[in-house]
Parts: sequence; structure tokens; C-alpha cells
Amino acid sequence: MLQRPRRNRKSEVIRQMVQETHVTAANLIFPLFIIEGNNQKTEVASMPGIYRYSIDNLLREVESCMNLGLKSFDLFPNISEELKDKYATESHREESLYLRAIRDVKQRFPEACVITDVAMDPYSSDGHDGIVENGQILNDETLEVLGKMAVAQARMGADIIAPSDMMDGRVGYIRNVLDDNGFTNVSIMSYTAKYASAFYGPFRDALNSAPKFGDKKTYQMNPANQREALIEAGLDEAEGADFLMVKPALSYLDVIKLLKDNTELPVAAYNVSGEYAMLKAAVERGWLNEQRAVTEVLTSIRRAGATAILTYHAKEVLENGWL
Ligand code: PBG
Repeated sequence: MLQRPRRNRKSEVIRQMVQETHVTAANLIFPLFIIEGNNQKTEVASMPGIYRYSIDNLLREVESCMNLGLKSFDLFPNISEELKDKYATESHREESLYLRAIRDVKQRFPEACVITDVAMDPYSSDGHDGIVENGQILNDETLEVLGKMAVAQARMGADIIAPSDMMDGRVGYIRNVLDDNGFTNVSIMSYTAKYASAFYGPFRDALNSAPKFGDKKTYQMNPANQREALIEAGLDEAEGADFLMVKPALSYLDVIKLLKDNTELPVAAYNVSGEYAMLKAAVERGWLNEQRAVTEVLTSIRRAGATAILTYHAKEVLENGWL
């Protein structure tokens, strides 16, 4: 045998020398859930180790992440039911929980990267990402709400706006309203290929944002489709996106790779709530080694081609020195 691939695996030093993919703190984005109140920190039942924070505790959490070198955050609000309505007006009301949280984090930690979510579902009495009329999700009418939301978030200091709604044309629409309002420097991380996935369940528990009827299949993508992701990617790129995201991550590594091979833009991937829950449940039962499983998951998402990973594991991997 001339070739013996095992020679390059024979010692830890050589294994590290030939390692192709690394995960660093700079690649990680930590999603954080926010609730109203003071000194609140309530665990999400289906996501052990993940909490909903009131703004005071959110600032403490951000500080402890910053000290670990984790500096990018994606914020999501849990809105009480009586503030929800058909048009998600709470999403752009000045002094809303979410807008205050963005402002406070950016004021305290100007060097942090705050990514904000644009979608109606946390504020919608229908629990959908768009305006509902006769059981249909209206596309173009929804864009107006998304535009107001994006501008309100930019005004509070958001660094990156991340539309997670999957309405057609939203990236271009948001880019325009941001520019018209002087926010030419605010980036857009588009949820380009967001699938209608079973793996969002724990997130909807965290935010109490599950759809009140039906499902999201008329706007989120069919898990069976790969080529369709290229259509979405082409549109988002043409409409001015700065990042293209694939979501979920683990069942869609092929889609991450496909986008990576077809765009010059950085590709992000969202290692979603259900992926986190699944791993934690197996670890709790003693069925998996946590450190090895978590680092393998993150490394494989990077190997597939993601530059940035949104993951609930972000803090624990740094706290435990797993990278
Ligand atoms: C909704 C949104 C969802 C997630 C992020 N934004 C859920 C959904 O589409 O219902 C899921 C994230 C996760 O599961 O971790 N705009």
C-alpha cells in the first residue's frame, strides 16, 4: 500500500495539523429569549439550560457571554397574549419589550453584535408570520409590517436585521425602507432557505408563538426540496442580503453546502431548538457524551460550509472550554 490514510491520524499533534475545519467563538451567534418583568429567569421546559430573561437579567447574561468572547446575539421576545393582534402592532410600538431590550443591550455593550428578528409570529394573535385573511397568509400587505418592524429595530441600534418570515420580496422591501430611513449601514441576514420543520417546537414553547390554526407550509419550504433553495438564494442576493441562512441545520447540511457553492456571500446556519432539545434529552439519559456530541454537531455545520452558526450551545461550549 502506497497510501495509508491512517498515518495522518496517528497522533494528536498530526490529527490537529491536518484538521480542515475549526469552530471558534467568532463563528457563534447566541439566540436569547426575552420576557417582561424584573429579575426574571425562567427555563424553557423543552430546552434545558436555556432561559427567558427579563431585560435586567438579559444584560447580565450578555455581559457573562461577552466575558467568554461570545459577542453576537439574536434576540427573540415572548409577548403576553393581550398585546398580540392581527397586525402585530406591538412589533413596532415604541417602548415595546423587544425594542427596549435592543436599545439597552446596545447602550451597555456597543461592541456587541445585536441581530434582531423580523417576523410577525411572536406578536400575532394568529401565531403566523404574516397577516391572516380568510385563512390565507397575505404576502404584500405583510411586507409593510415587516418594514416598520425593521426600521424600529434599526433605530434602537440593531446591527443586523434577520427576517425569518419567508414572505416573497421581503429582503428587497426591507433594504429599501432601511435605506430610505438612513440605515444604509444596517445589514440583512436573510432566512433564505427556511424549511417548514418539525424542529421548531421547543422555540414555539419558549415564545408561546405556535400558529393558532394550520401550519406554515404556504410560506416555509418543503423539507423535500433542495433546488428551490437556489431560487431563494438568487432572489435574496439580488435584493441585497448580506448573509444567506439555512434553517434548520442538521437535516439540511446538503443545503448549506449547496448555497456555499453557489454564492460569494457568507452562509449562516441555524442549529434550531429541536436539534438542541434532542441532543440534551439523549445526554440527560446518559445515551450520548455531551462534549463530543455538541462539538461534532457544530464542526459538521461548519464543514458543510456555514461561516456563522446560530446555536443554543454557544455559551456552554465556551464556558466548558470545549472548542
Ligand atoms: C419564526 C421563527 C421560528 C424560529 C425562529 N424564528 C419558528 C417558526 O418559524 O415557527 C425557530 C428557531 C428555533 O427553533 O430555534 N419567525
